[in-house]
This record gives sequence, structure tokens and C-alpha cells, in this order.
Amino acid sequence: FLPANVEVFVLPGTTILEAANRAGIILALPCGGKGTCGKCRIKVQEGSFDYTSAEQERLTLAEQQQGIHLACQARIFEPCVIQIIPDALASQWQVLTGSGDNVTHLAPEIKKEFVVVQEGTLKSAQSDIERLKQQLKGLEYLDLEAVRALPIFLRENRFQGTFVLAANELLSWEKGDTTNKCYGVALDIGTTTLVAALLDLHQGKTLNTVSAPNPQAQFGADVISRIELVKKERKNLALLNKVLIDKINQMIKTLVQQAEITKEYIYHLVVTGNAVMQHLFLGITPEYLGEIPFPLAFKRSLNVVAQDLNIAINPRGKVRVYPNIAGFIGGDTVAGILASEIYQSDKVKLLVDLGTNGEIVLGNRERLLAASTAAGPAFEGAKISAGMPGIKGAIEKVIIKKDSSDRETGIFYNVIGNVPPRGICGSGLIDLIAELLRVGIIDFTGRILKKEELDGNLPEFLLTRIKEDTTQSSFILESDPEPIVLTQRDVREVQLGKGAIYAGIKILEKQLGIEETQINEVFLAGGFGNFIRRKNVIEIGLLPDFPPEKIKYIGN
Ligand code: FES
Repeated sequence: FLPANVEVFVLPGTTILEAANRAGIILALPCGGKGTCGKCRIKVQEGSFDYTSAEQERLTLAEQQQGIHLACQARIFEPCVIQIIPDALASQWQVLTGSGDNVTHLAPEIKKEFVVVQEGTLKSAQSDIERLKQQLKGLEYLDLEAVRALPIFLRENRFQGTFVLAANELLSWEKGDTTNKCYGVALDIGTTTLVAALLDLHQGKTLNTVSAPNPQAQFGADVISRIELVKKERKNLALLNKVLIDKINQMIKTLVQQAEITKEYIYHLVVTGNAVMQHLFLGITPEYLGEIPFPLAFKRSLNVVAQDLNIAINPRGKVRVYPNIAGFIGGDTVAGILASEIYQSDKVKLLVDLGTNGEIVLGNRERLLAASTAAGPAFEGAKISAGMPGIKGAIEKVIIKKDSSDRETGIFYNVIGNVPPRGICGSGLIDLIAELLRVGIIDFTGRILKKEELDGNLPEFLLTRIKEDTTQSSFILESDPEPIVLTQRDVREVQLGKGAIYAGIKILEKQLGIEETQINEVFLAGGFGNFIRRKNVIEIGLLPDFPPEKIKYIGN
């Protein structure tokens, strides 16, 4: 995909739209991808595509001669190069996706400015601070360290330098003009997975992203077990905090090394997570969050100095922790509400964030209701025999073609990064279970059937993959280079998660007093893979029976 220069691997028959989604490029779809609005125009630079009847209707002959296609209609059958036409971008999504090239609204809390301060004269009685304020608009507050440093800095640097502001506060001062070296890190503390992105705040670009398992998981897979640990002995709070901070610092180190910058130029860390994770990150005991009425220690956003938390960015940098809504609805839900813009919508929309705690938000600009469900870590690949997060080496898409109408029969899958598979991530898991349900290997209760119970017409390539032992069956997706097997326990784990989410949605609908059909759009968020096949999410009963075109995956 140009101009972002992102390459993705997809199965034959994938639409350009789906491939663009996987590349993190989100196109606007006024007609929901039905091929009627003609707005999702892209230009094919290399590769050949047939024109569908919908495309022939919407595109002029001149456009067709230039290689213009509709992304929602054109299907990929060979390697190709696609040029994205900026008008087709759903620009508000760009910040979400990490492609980072099309940020439309840049308003970082941290700003740098190079200024030359007037030298004092005998005639003027102005202080250093007053003369700095004249040049640095918006500056109001300097702490003692800054007041102490300023007179020396100005005189040692010919009264000029780069000043770093956090809103109206002077954060730091650097020699020369370093305005183009200003970075921030965005961090999502999941119960199971941590994801951090390094952002260039000067250019408005995401430079790189890393993810890592949350090291607290060794002490308990879910938030309740971590609360219990602190309840048992309060000194465990320091332990949970320390392993987390150490891991975050390691991730920042990796980001810094990959981008070849120095950590002193990182002035901002913005943190979201569920309420328990945010409490643990700040070293606040979460023990009361485990008791009715689940009281929070803080609700509004907090702004803390990095060195107070031992975060390895510029020691005077700021750490912004997102607001919490309620005991089990934390900053990550606020982030989802902001990113999906559900709070601005006239129509009723649904946001589902699939994590170990599955958060659900339903409503519009008038009223939003939120719920948190114990979905378990299955969709993030944890507690699944061959599970892994949606990173390189994860199978993220599975298709079974078994009918004579299919051009080829067999099991086909996508691996993130186009490398040999190491495991399966959430989206692959949803696909696999939906496909096995469709071909009848899994029954409607979620049981993997034994060979003797199966429809006699199942092809050999499927039958040989069913492994039976005395009590239950499993399905072998891949045996080389490593076995990737779906066990009965894995299916049960997914059922628990999807049941929790489904129930949460139903309860919110009831509370808001609306019918499913009144929900105009469904946003699915989470780190379960790059792309989720919408009909399979409905197939397995994770979401109610929405028309698939209403469902949008908005990234992590
Ligand atoms: Fe409307 Fe493709 S034609 S989204």
C-alpha cells in the first residue's frame, strides 16, 4: 500500500478493503462497503483486477482506464501495489491504527519552542522569568528546580535555547534548537498484554510499537487474583508495581533503541488500562476495588512526574494516567470512547473492547452506559493451548474449503509476518471455531465431536486432523514445525469469554431500553490480531446477529 509503504499478506479472494484494514489503513465506507456509494476509490499501480458490475456502474470509463477500483469490491488474486487516494481515508481513524502517516489533528500536551530571551539592561528591572515569559507564550508555572536552573542556563547559553512546556508549566530546557526532538509514549496496560507505542510529537507520527506479556500474570491471570494477592499481604503491592514498571522500562528501552533516539527526549507517557491496572501502575492498593461498592482511589485523570514512578523517560517528563469511570470500567474504556467518537454520535453505537476484561459501551452523545465482563484472556491468546498474542508468527485467519464449489479444498490460514506459524491469536481462534462449527466438527454446544459422530461426507483432510482420547477430542490445525492444536478446553475457554460479552451487551440494551436493530454501528477493539472476520464473530455468538457491515474493527 502506497504512500504508507505497508505490505501485508492475504489469502486469494480478499477484498482490497480487508487488506487495507490489515495494513492499518482505514477507509471511509459511507455505504458500509456495499459498493453503492463509490467513495472507497483506490488506484491499482500493479496487479490485475476484474471490474465487478458494481464498479462498472460507479466508475467512469476514464477512471477505469486509470486503474481506479472500489476497495470494497475488488478482490485480490495476485501480488499487487495499491495507491491510497487520501479522500477515501476515514481520517479520524488514522491515529488509532498506528500507520501514523495521516494524523489530521496534532495537539500534544508537551510542546517545545526555541527562544531567544532579551538580555537584561540597567534600564529594565525585569526578572529572568518575566523575560522568558515574554518569549514563551503560555508559560505560567516554574517549579523550584526550574527557577534555580534558569539564570545559569540563560547565561551559559547566550540567552537562547529550547524550552519544553507541559501545558503552562516549564518542564525542561535544552541547549540549541532541539524542537524536532520531542517524543511521547502511549501505553496500554492490559491484564494480559502490554502495548507501547513511541510517538514523534513534533511530526505527529507513530514511530514504532512493541508489546509484551504483563509480568504480573505470573501472580494471577485476572484482576481478581491480583487484588487477592495484595489483600493477603500488602507488601505484594510493591512487588506487582515493580515487575510492571521494570517491564515498561524495558519496553521503552526497546522503542528508543529501534528508533535510535535518546530517552531524555521522551517527555510524555500516556497510560491507559483497566482501573485495577491503573491503580497498580501508580502503586495504589487495588484491594478495595474487590469489595462492594468497588470504590476507586481516583477518578479524574492524574498527571505525575516520571521520576516519582521510576519511569525511564526524561526524569522531569510527565506521566498522564487516564480517568477511571467506575471500579471495573477504567481508563482503557475512556480511551475507547474517545477513539471511537461514540460520545459524539447522534445515533446509538456499540463499542466492544475484547480483552481479559471485556468492556462494553452502548449509547450516543446523550447517554452512554458501560459494562465490564470477565471475558478471560482467551481472545488475547492466553489460557489457550496454542494461543499467542496477535504478533509475528500467529495464525490470525483460518478458512476451511471443503465443497466441490470451492476452487481448491483444504485448510488455509494467514500467519502474521508471513513466517512459519508458532501459535494462534484471538482472531484466528474465532475463525477456526466458526469454521469447525460450520463444517460440523464442533456441535452447537461447543463439543468437538468424535469421528463416529461426524457426517460421513467430511473429507479426509478434515477427518485425519481429529484426535480422540478417552474423554474428549481435539483438532490438529498444523503439525509442522510445531503442533498447533485446538483442544476441547480451548473451545470452552472461548465459550466463557464470548458468553460474558454477549450477556453484557444484552444487559446494556435492556438498561438503555433499546432494541438491537436500533444499534447503528458496532466497534470492535482489542489486540486479538490484525483483522477479524465479522461474520464469524456472529457465527460463534460473541456478538448478537448484527448485519456484518455494521461491525468495524478499530484496532487496539
Ligand atoms: Fe461504498 Fe465501497 S462503494 S464503501
